[in-house]
Amino acid sequence: MKKAITLLFLSTLAAPALADECALVIEGNDAMQYNLKEMSVPATCKEVTVTLNHTGKMPVTAMGHNWALANTADYQAVATAGMSAGADNNYLPKDDPRVLAHTKLVGGGESTSVTFKTDGLAGKDLTFFCSFPGHFAMMKGTFKVG
Ligand code: CU
Repeated sequence: MKKAITLLFLSTLAAPALADECALVIEGNDAMQYNLKEMSVPATCKEVTVTLNHTGKMPVTAMGHNWALANTADYQAVATAGMSAGADNNYLPKDDPRVLAHTKLVGGGESTSVTFKTDGLAGKDLTFFCSFPGHFAMMKGTFKVG
């Protein structure tokens, strides 16, 4: 009897939560890495929420991370322009339409999220990246809508 109850309890814990397919979570760490190389949402998502968890311990000034989205053809130029935009602008060019969405910069132990509309993004070749200086070469991946 006791064993049956334990098993029931474990299976409840293991049951997957009803995931919201329009909400994605990604991690960044102190080794300058995201835990994902690809992210995607179905085209039925009108809005997407991306949450970035910095799982490291280093401060934002040394190992800050954000999550930015651009067309793959644009992201390197956006990241380069972001370096001169400075930390106050999350290392992203201000009011630049090439930046399709972005979070703020966070340091170790912090989280941030951004919600954006998917209008016009379906089928596009998109890249997500961290715009902290020097990070985008390692911290990037593909993003797909639909
Ligand atoms: Cu970073």
